[in-house]
Amino acid sequence: MPLADLAVVAGCAAGAALVAGAAGLGLLHLLRGRPVAVQLAVVAGATVLATVAGVVVITLMMMISEHDRNVALTVVLVAGLVGLGVSLLLGRRLTAANRVLVEAVRADPYRVPDRRLPAELAELARELAAAYDRLAAGRAREQALETSRRELVAWVSHDLRTPLAGLRAMAEALEDEVVADAETVHRYHHRIRIEADRLAGMVDDLFELARIHAGALRLSRQRVGLDDLVADAVAGVEPLARAGGVRITGAAAPGLPLEVDAAELGRALRNLVVNAIRHTPGDGTVEIRAEDAGDGMARVSVTDACGGIPEADLPRVFEVAFRGESARTPGGGAGLGLAIARGIVEAHAGEIGVANTGPGCRFVIRLPLAGG
Ligand SMILES: Nc1ncnc2c1ncn2[C@@H]1O[C@H](COP(=O)(O)OP(=O)(O)OP(=O)(O)O)[C@@H](O)[C@H]1O
Ligand SMILES: [Mg+2]
Repeated sequence: MPLADLAVVAGCAAGAALVAGAAGLGLLHLLRGRPVAVQLAVVAGATVLATVAGVVVITLMMMISEHDRNVALTVVLVAGLVGLGVSLLLGRRLTAANRVLVEAVRADPYRVPDRRLPAELAELARELAAAYDRLAAGRAREQALETSRRELVAWVSHDLRTPLAGLRAMAEALEDEVVADAETVHRYHHRIRIEADRLAGMVDDLFELARIHAGALRLSRQRVGLDDLVADAVAGVEPLARAGGVRITGAAAPGLPLEVDAAELGRALRNLVVNAIRHTPGDGTVEIRAEDAGDGMARVSVTDACGGIPEADLPRVFEVAFRGESARTPGGGAGLGLAIARGIVEAHAGEIGVANTGPGCRFVIRLPLAGG
């Protein structure tokens, strides 16, 4: 065929294809919300239409005979039908894959479908799994917070009211002169002061915890030596240890620098050591050690002879208002000390943990060492 004729055929085919393509695009735009199978059928239809239009145009220009045109049209129509069939099949597969994904999303919990999906849907399935994990973690956090909030309200109403009722009863007895002998009056006064101090301590702890939970703990960091922190903690609890007949030893590697709020961290450490002394029987030993953990962190451990914490309680001791069996007695702890210690340590980008060891348990704090 001469080159000029070929150019004419190409031009006619392109013109017809453009018209059919534009019609197809318009139709696709109208059907954009319809199933993929329908849209694929439109693509197949547009392809057939473009070919048929091209054949018709060159027939009209009398470049091929009627016989040749019929042969060409038959071939095009058969090919078009096969194309349409393949498109519909692909559409059905996509619809089925989509249904699998929808069912996986509807199921709770979501599981990545084990069927092989087209690449795009498989990526969507993986992204959905990641989003579901984030959602589940958020929900768990929210639930834990809600539980601790509820426990705290229960704690406040019970643990603050009980000593207040006692205080009130003692004050009334003094006021009405129901107790008159000097020794009982003195005992009541003493008891009232002790209880008032304890309540003040609880309110102070509660306030600290509220600041930690609100993220309002303002740390005024300064450079301190870990050995000084340990020495202060030991000195502060010595009277308590002596009263309980508990030996207390402190050993700290010298010159480990920390950039911390010494008052807050001292409070966290004191909470651990006071617990250790309270739970160690007379003649037992509480050991505080501070050393370089070797990975840019300092490690402080408080080891006691408490007889071990029940395994089931170990993961819960840092929860707000959690108290072990022995502590759930009138006048016992409030269950805030370790929650506060954890809050303070985490505010310093540190970690706190506990494990049973030997005759007791060991609480460990890890804190980043100051650079330079
Ligand atoms: N050194 C320890 N040895 C054994 N059990 C401990 C020790 N430290 C904590 N526990 C257990 O963990 C619980 C929670 O401790 P936490 O310090 O938070 O509260 P508390 O000591 O009971 O009260 P608070 O510290 O508010 O006065 C305790 O009631 C106790 O059962
Ligand atoms: Mg405590």
